[in-house]
Amino acid sequence: MADYLTIAKQKFDALKNKKDVIILAVESSCDETAVSIVKNGREVLSNVVASQIEIHKRFGGVVPEVASRNHILAISSCFKQALMEANLKKEDLDAIAVTYGAGLMGALLVGVNFAKTVAYALSLPLIAVSHVHGHISANYISHMELLPPFACLMVSGGHTAILQVDDYCKIKVIGSTQDDSVGECFDKVARVLGLSYPGGPNIDKLAKNGKNIIKFNYHAPFKDSFNFSFSGLKTAVVNYVHNKEQKGEEIEKADVACSFQELVTDELVEKTKNYCLKNNVKKLVIAGGVGANSVLREKLTLFCNKEKIDIYLPILKYCTDNAAMIGSMAYYYAKNGIGLADLTLTAKPNVDINVG
Ligand code: KG4
Ligand code: ZN
Repeated sequence: MADYLTIAKQKFDALKNKKDVIILAVESSCDETAVSIVKNGREVLSNVVASQIEIHKRFGGVVPEVASRNHILAISSCFKQALMEANLKKEDLDAIAVTYGAGLMGALLVGVNFAKTVAYALSLPLIAVSHVHGHISANYISHMELLPPFACLMVSGGHTAILQVDDYCKIKVIGSTQDDSVGECFDKVARVLGLSYPGGPNIDKLAKNGKNIIKFNYHAPFKDSFNFSFSGLKTAVVNYVHNKEQKGEEIEKADVACSFQELVTDELVEKTKNYCLKNNVKKLVIAGGVGANSVLREKLTLFCNKEKIDIYLPILKYCTDNAAMIGSMAYYYAKNGIGLADLTLTAKPNVDINVG
C-alpha cells in the first residue's frame, strides 16, 4: 500500500481538474477557534467559530498561553459541529486546510497539529494557508462575482498593507506598516480609554457620540509612500489622555474616539486613494477585522462611487477571523498547485504575503 505522502500528493494533483472540491478548513491563529467546510472556494457549507473574546476580556487583550489552551479545548467539537452543520461525513471531504501563519505561535500550533492528524487519519492532502491570504478570500465568499485583478486594503489586527492582487495566487505587497498595525492601534487607544477588548468595535460605537474634534500632537509620516506608520498616532492619543488624567481634567472619551478614528481612517483612505488613482484601479477590495469599521467603509465607498471604482467589502462575519476564508483560499491554492504540506508542517509567526 502506498504511503500517506504519495496518496496525499496524488489526491492533491487530482483537485486541479476535479469538478467539485470540498475542503474542511481549520483556523486558530489568534483567539477564535474556527472550522469551516467550503465547496469550490465560494460556497460556505458550514462556518463554526468558537470565540474566546469573553475569556480574554478580563485581561484587556489576548493572552497567548490562555488562547492556546482554549483552542485545545474547543477544536474537536468545532470539527464535529462543522461536519454536522454541513450535513456531510468525513468521507465527503477532498482536503484539509489550515492556517499555518501568521499569528500566535502556540495558538497556530493547535490548529496545525489538529489538521495534520485529521489529514493523516483520512488520507487527505493537507493545504497550508497564509492567514492574510485568507482575509482576502473573505471577499470571494462574500461576493460570488468578484474576480481578480484588484487592489486590496488589508487592515487586520496583525497587518496593515496595500496589496495588488493580479490573480488568486499572484499577490504583491505595495506598501505596509513599518510599526504597529491599525488594529493594534485601535485596541491600544480603546484600552487607554478604558473600553473592553476587542477595542476596535467599541471605538467605532463610542465615536458615534463624538461632538468635538480634538487636535492631537501628531503629523502623519510617509507622505509620499504607500507605507504606513501608526505608532506616532497611538502615542499622541495615549499622551493626550495621560496628560488630562494627570491634570485631573475630564476626558471626553467619545471625542477622543471620534478624533482618533477620523485621523486613522483618513490615513488609510488617503494612501488607498493615491494608489488607486495612480494605477487606474478598477476594483478595490477591503480585508481584515478593521474592515468592519463603519467610518472606514463609508469613506472608501464614497471615494469609489465618485471615481467609478467597484468596491467590495466583506460581509461583517467574514471580516474578523473565521475558517471559511481559509477554506476558500485553499481551493485556489489547490487549483494553482501550491500549498501542499507534509506532516512536518509547523506554525510560523510571520509569513511573507508576496506570492506568484
Ligand atoms: O483580522 P482580525 O480579526 O485579526 C487578525 O488577523 O489580526 O482583526 C482583529 C482586529 C482587532 O484589532 C479589532 O479591534 C479590529 O480588528 N476590529 C475593528 C472593528 N472590528 C474589529 N476595528 C475598528 N472598527 C471595527 N468595527
Ligand atoms: Zn485575522
